[in-house]
Parts: sequence; C-alpha cells; structure tokens
Amino acid sequence: MKNDSSKKDLIGQILINAGFITHEQLMYALKEREKSGGRLGETLVRLGYISAQTIATVLKKQLASSLLVNHKMLESPEFSEFYRLQTSIKMALFSDDPIRSIMVTSAVPAEGKSFSVSYLAMIMTSLMNKRTLLIDADLRRPSIHLKFGLSLIHGLTDVLVDNKKIDECLHDTEQENLKVLTSGSRCTNTTALLGSQKMKNLVGELKERFDLLIFDSSPLYPLADSVLLSSYVDGTILVIKAGATRRGIVQRAVNTLKDTKGKILGTILNQVEYDVPKYDYY
Ligand SMILES: Nc1ncnc2c1ncn2[C@@H]1O[C@H](COP(=O)(O)OP(=O)(O)OP(=O)(O)O)[C@@H](O)[C@H]1O
Ligand SMILES: [Mg+2]
Repeated sequence: MKNDSSKKDLIGQILINAGFITHEQLMYALKEREKSGGRLGETLVRLGYISAQTIATVLKKQLASSLLVNHKMLESPEFSEFYRLQTSIKMALFSDDPIRSIMVTSAVPAEGKSFSVSYLAMIMTSLMNKRTLLIDADLRRPSIHLKFGLSLIHGLTDVLVDNKKIDECLHDTEQENLKVLTSGSRCTNTTALLGSQKMKNLVGELKERFDLLIFDSSPLYPLADSVLLSSYVDGTILVIKAGATRRGIVQRAVNTLKDTKGKILGTILNQVEYDVPKYDYY
C-alpha cells in the first residue's frame, strides 16, 4: 500500500540519526506541528530541541550523503560490482533449491551495507520479475528509509511492538515490484525483537507474500543482531570496504557466518572512497 506520510518526517529522522534529537522529541514535535501547523524544523527550534543553524548544517551534510536511490544511478558503471553479484544470486534463485531470502552484512560498521543493499534490491527487481521486499533489520542504525526517502515511523518494530498492521508498513518505491519495510520507530531490545517468535512468524508470512526478501542488517561485530538474523535467511552477502577492512576481521566474519550454518552467496567489494560520519550508536 502507499504510505502517504512517507516523506513528511524525513528531516526528523535525519536529525535523530545524526544524534541531535531523540525519537520522543520528534514524536512530540510532530504532534505539536499538527496543532499549530508550519514546518517541522521550525517546531523543533520553537520547542528548544535544536538550533536553526544546526538543522541547516546537518541537513546539508546528510542529504548530500544519503544518495537517494533512483533508476538513473543504476546505469552508472560504478555499479558493475552489483551486476557481477546479481549473476550469482540469479543462479541461486533459480537453482533446484532456490533461495528466497538474502541478508547483507559486513564485519564492522560503515562498510557500505545499506548503500549496497539498496542498489542490489533495485538491480535485482529491475532485472527479474520477482516481488521483492527490502527489510531494514538494522534496528540500531537504520538508514534504508533515507536512501529511499521514506518514513521510519511505519516499520518493522511498529509491527512487532505496537501490533501495527504489516500492510500499513509496506512502502512503495519507484521500482515496480520493490517494496520497503523500514525499521520502525523503536530501537530498544533489538536483539530480543529480532529473535522473537513474532519476528519469526512475520518473516514466515512475508515469505508467502513475496518472492524474495532482502534484509539490511547491522555489522557482525560487535553485535549479535545480524548473527541472529542469519538464521532466518537462505544466504548472506558480505560487504567489504576495499582497502579499509583488515583481512583478519573479514576472515573472522566468514567463520562466524559459517559457524551459524550461514551460506555466503558472495561479497561486495565497496571500492569507492567516501567520508563516513562519526557514529557511536553501536
Ligand atoms: N560506493 C559508495 N559510493 C558512495 N558513497 C557510499 C558508497 N558506499 C557507502 N557510501 C556512503 O557512505 C556512508 C556509509 O555507508 P552505508 O550507510 O551504506 O554503510 P553501512 O555499512 O550501512 O553503515 P552502518 O554500519 O552504520 O549501518 C553513507 O553516507 C553512504 O551513502
Ligand atoms: Mg547501514
């Protein structure tokens, strides 16, 4: 279904991600704005949560790096790594024992998982006629909503914690056949949420409704979340930031996945130089 609230709170989400306001403050500001009208930024300033100057600086920086996913970018040669990978995924999808769910992870934070999984989802759906759902299961540092310009509010944790209906949380994208389930508005007890029976049931239901589930996840270290998630999926793709991640830690990541009986479908060598903002969420 189409989620009309989609882009309304994007700015708020960017400010939460950048650590300037809390989720509770955003919720309060959204309610206040509903009463008095005006822009969300102005409401946040009026409530004293943040200065107008900080908002301007953060938005400039973050919007430049959020790289909204669109069709045009898929034609760029920069994405040949994703085309290479889709061949092996295609083989796995059409094998005798076809895979129905994929997870993208990395050894350590900020290797380009969310960037890679977004493009991979776009490429896979544009090349194959499969109903695909991209799920942001990085509940601690969600960012798929930013890549697609969607709302974080109606998402996975809202279904799991607040019993929101899943149909209210399946966001459309510009790619026909590709829907997104954003991470949702809560980020506490993430490991327990991902390991819950409710999550298992939900994944089971989504597998019935879609041909392919693609999960973005947190890094393998230092958290248990993505290891847990690997038990839901048929295959894992490991993103490695070229020239940055040490060989030993990549090997450890491979061993961790093998220990959990995770099937590694392939790797993405994220070659491009980019500035990674400092985060302390993990
Ligand atoms: N190949 C690339 N080209 C340009 N920018 C990139 C590329 N890969 C990643 N980035 C940018 O680098 C930053 C970090 O990437 P991304 O969010 O995908 O990493 P991540 O592994 O998901 O991080 P986290 O562990 O925090 O979830 C983002 O601003 C993203 O847009
Ligand atoms: Mg990410």
